[in-house]
Amino acid sequence: MESALHPLVSIIMGSSSDLHVMEQAAAVLSELEVAYEMTVVSAHRTPERMFAHAKSASDRGIKVIVAGAGGAAHLPGMTASLTILPVIGVPIHSSNSIDGWDSVLSILQMPSGVPVATVALDGGKNAGILAAQIVATSDAAISERLKQFKDALKAKVVDTIETVENHRVKG
Ligand code: RP5
Repeated sequence: MESALHPLVSIIMGSSSDLHVMEQAAAVLSELEVAYEMTVVSAHRTPERMFAHAKSASDRGIKVIVAGAGGAAHLPGMTASLTILPVIGVPIHSSNSIDGWDSVLSILQMPSGVPVATVALDGGKNAGILAAQIVATSDAAISERLKQFKDALKAKVVDTIETVENHRVKG
């Protein structure tokens, strides 16, 4: 599942078992018409592939990397150590994760000098939105679509105000 246009965002994940979370990033990027690529890159099982992916991403025109992993989630941090592109980390509550905290802390607690922008546990959608926001800093069309996206969020909340204010509890 990839965009036809030249990809600006690279979505990577440690295993195909992470796809149900990472496809949420792909879905929102599709909605915002941001071209992306998506593949599996395992820090532990395919370290040479991780190295090659991170080292080549900038030269291939990628602007942001979204990296998801669970348990001993080293992929986002190791990718960030190999590139100056911004890396967004998605902690995944995977089958080998104790309770999700291991995934969160493995990605969140990076050493000084090597940041990873970490979203919530299983936060694939927000990772996609954040990636689009980064790309939008130099793309007016994507910026406009993001404004419309945020306006739609606001409208959904505004639609609920009257219902809540007119709600009367029984008894
Ligand atoms: C991590 O281990 C992957 O990112 C995945 O979240 C987890 C489990 O992988 P599988 O055993 O399902 O391939 O490296």
